[in-house]
Amino acid sequence: MSKSLLWETVVAAFWLAFLTILGVNLVGNYVMYGSPVESEHGKLEKFGYPIEVVEAAPEAAAGGGGGLVSSLPLVAAASAEEGAGVFKKCGSCHTAEAGGANKTGPNLHNIIGAEIANHNGFKTTESLNGIGGNWTYEKIDDYIENPKRLAPKGSMSFAGLKKPQDRAAVIKFLMSQSENPPPIPAAAETPAAAPAAPN
Ligand code: HEC
Repeated sequence: MSKSLLWETVVAAFWLAFLTILGVNLVGNYVMYGSPVESEHGKLEKFGYPIEVVEAAPEAAAGGGGGLVSSLPLVAAASAEEGAGVFKKCGSCHTAEAGGANKTGPNLHNIIGAEIANHNGFKTTESLNGIGGNWTYEKIDDYIENPKRLAPKGSMSFAGLKKPQDRAAVIKFLMSQSENPPPIPAAAETPAAAPAAPN
């Protein structure tokens, strides 16, 4: 074997080893992360074998997730007077009439459809602010069922209204305390047929 042929063999062997390692790496990355590019910084969002996310039951999805059973189908038939009664539980911290004062929590007049965490000059927590968007019926339903689910570090120290009828009544009451409440989304009225409502 001539010297140069030996040298070429050595170089070729290195290349082969290099390409093999590269290839294994690429294939490995592809398997783990879906594409070699996204693996660069170890992004784990796209995990190799898809992890099945079990969709919540439609009833729960329509209510904003988290296993919540939506109260929205009950709102149409709920009574604002009854809601005013249930609202007494909120009344130690909230008023709802026009021009009502902020107490421990903000005045809730016109809260339905309003921007979250930006009401009546009340300084809310970052956690509440972090929900983002507006108070849709779904979010209000979710929030008053368990305030910590949407705002884990929020300051509304309230256990939540667990009964859908109570939440429906309070929502009806809050509608009566809003100049122009948006219509209850049709999807919420027939939860069985509805895909998760867009927020
Ligand atoms: C113990 C006092 C307390 C009770 C009781 C209470 N809240 Fe609150 N609520 C608060 C506080 C404090 C905040 C602000 C939370 C934050 O900044 O994290 C708040 C925030 C809210 C918000 C969001 C306001 C915004 O600016 O986006 C809504 C809606 C709300 N409460 C509804 C209710 C309803 C309905 C009830 C009764 C079912 C209730 N709250 C009971 C103290 C209370």
